[in-house]
Amino acid sequence: MRPHSYESIFQLTTTLLLLPVVLAACSGDEEEPSPLAQELEFPAFGSSSAASGKGSFRFGASSSATQIEDQNEDTDWYLWTTPEPDGLGKGSIIGDAVHGYSKALDDVNLIADMHLDAYRFSFEWARIEPTRDAINEEALEHYSDVLDALRGNEIHPMLVIHHFSNPVWVDDPRDVGCADGPTDANLCGLNHPEGGDLVVQELADHARLLAERFGDRVDDWGTLNEPMVYLLSAYGFGGGPPGKPGFITDFQGGFVPAVRNFLSAHAAIYKAIKEADQIDADGDGVAASIGIPHSVQVYVPVRDGQPSEDPEDLAAVDRLRWFFEYSFIEALQQGSFDTDMDGELDEPHPEWRDTLDWLGLQYYARVGVSGLQPNVPVIDISLCAGPTCMPPVDPTYLVPAMGYESDPAGIYSLLKSYSARWPDMPLLVTESGIATEVGARRAEVIVRALEQIARVRDEGVDVRGYYHWSLLDNFEWAHGNEPRFGLYHVDYETFERTPSEGATVLGEIARTRRLSDATRAKYGGNGPMTPEPAMR
Ligand code: BGC
Repeated sequence: MRPHSYESIFQLTTTLLLLPVVLAACSGDEEEPSPLAQELEFPAFGSSSAASGKGSFRFGASSSATQIEDQNEDTDWYLWTTPEPDGLGKGSIIGDAVHGYSKALDDVNLIADMHLDAYRFSFEWARIEPTRDAINEEALEHYSDVLDALRGNEIHPMLVIHHFSNPVWVDDPRDVGCADGPTDANLCGLNHPEGGDLVVQELADHARLLAERFGDRVDDWGTLNEPMVYLLSAYGFGGGPPGKPGFITDFQGGFVPAVRNFLSAHAAIYKAIKEADQIDADGDGVAASIGIPHSVQVYVPVRDGQPSEDPEDLAAVDRLRWFFEYSFIEALQQGSFDTDMDGELDEPHPEWRDTLDWLGLQYYARVGVSGLQPNVPVIDISLCAGPTCMPPVDPTYLVPAMGYESDPAGIYSLLKSYSARWPDMPLLVTESGIATEVGARRAEVIVRALEQIARVRDEGVDVRGYYHWSLLDNFEWAHGNEPRFGLYHVDYETFERTPSEGATVLGEIARTRRLSDATRAKYGGNGPMTPEPAMR
């Protein structure tokens, strides 16, 4: 890894989600998908947990509480998006999202209707603990009912502790200066010299509470959803609450401490769950199987509009991949922190080691990278717009609602490179999807990803499941309600849910545990997909 200077980094972007974020991934080592020769089979998942189910395969859907729930008024995202004077008026209003709290039990039936055997979701920390140390028992009862409904339908829950949002008291976006230091009303957040440790402790306490109450029904746990995406949004560029642009204003003082503390939070959550969840709900000998749902991208080196093998472009891809993807996971694997993000782990943290039972890849975007730009490893799209930042690889793959390219078959190279780097790590695809209004396009994303997953499994890669993002259309952070990621379409006036062609196709695959020749012929492959109306 070539060391680089952060002064020279042209801050980069992503439209990926929260706003600004980043990317990394793999160079252009994609290979042709398997020929349409055989029907592909996915062995039943049965009762195994993520850590015990080698060989088996689960089909699931994903969601997160903040993106779907109504009456969710104590989160920082609610405050952030509520119009002034009650809120900060930033971005689109979450409001009642898609009524995912009041319709939670009905929505379990939507999962069952697709014959899925797994669901990945979060419970809202701010609803459970709206003010510090005050636990809302009614909310816990509600969530307990949701778990019962899932179990009653033989749907295995995967509960993620933190998915991009916090109770306002963790780091109040109205007082980012935090001049008086941490109080119960504002802990001052992950990057604060005293508040950081408090937030780590609170996250571990919250995880312990969930493990104590729900460990009898949950064996699969995620700690932090897409940690680097969250850190860049919240503490890197400030595109989401608490809105601290530490990456730009004070890299060593404002950003790096947040990364270090989030790593500590992962380890603390892991240990709290292992201690508090001793009940093996699935009967497979594993009471708690704990991992990270991790954001990954395919990065293609591009120069002069063409795929490039120029060493400068390849080095830029490596820097991005390290910064955005590998550094967080390698820190946990080796128990050491890369304090200046130059590719060298240089600050020992043995307490972080052995805190990962599986890794979940979450893949949406293929991005062009040019080493000619001094803009890697991080690009802020608000400062760097257009093709000079992220040169297109092939615009026919564009997802108009998100501004990046979707190439679902790219999951092949990602699964291969992750399993090559960490051969003993069980892998899952914990998110994969597309923002589209076109059902056939969603079905194509599903089938093309599953074709590649079957292919890598054949080649010996230990990938144990596919969760589609998302069960329902929902609030897409800084992008608001426009991008529609749902297997079920939501009418934003009546909140009625209607299955998309993607739901029908995934449901049939999950029911038969097979990708038939006919389905592959109709939706599979790796060429351009059915276009979005705006692209026709
Ligand atoms: C996040 C989700 C988001 C999805 C689609 C993932 O990175 O975990 O919260 O909605 O991408 O952009």
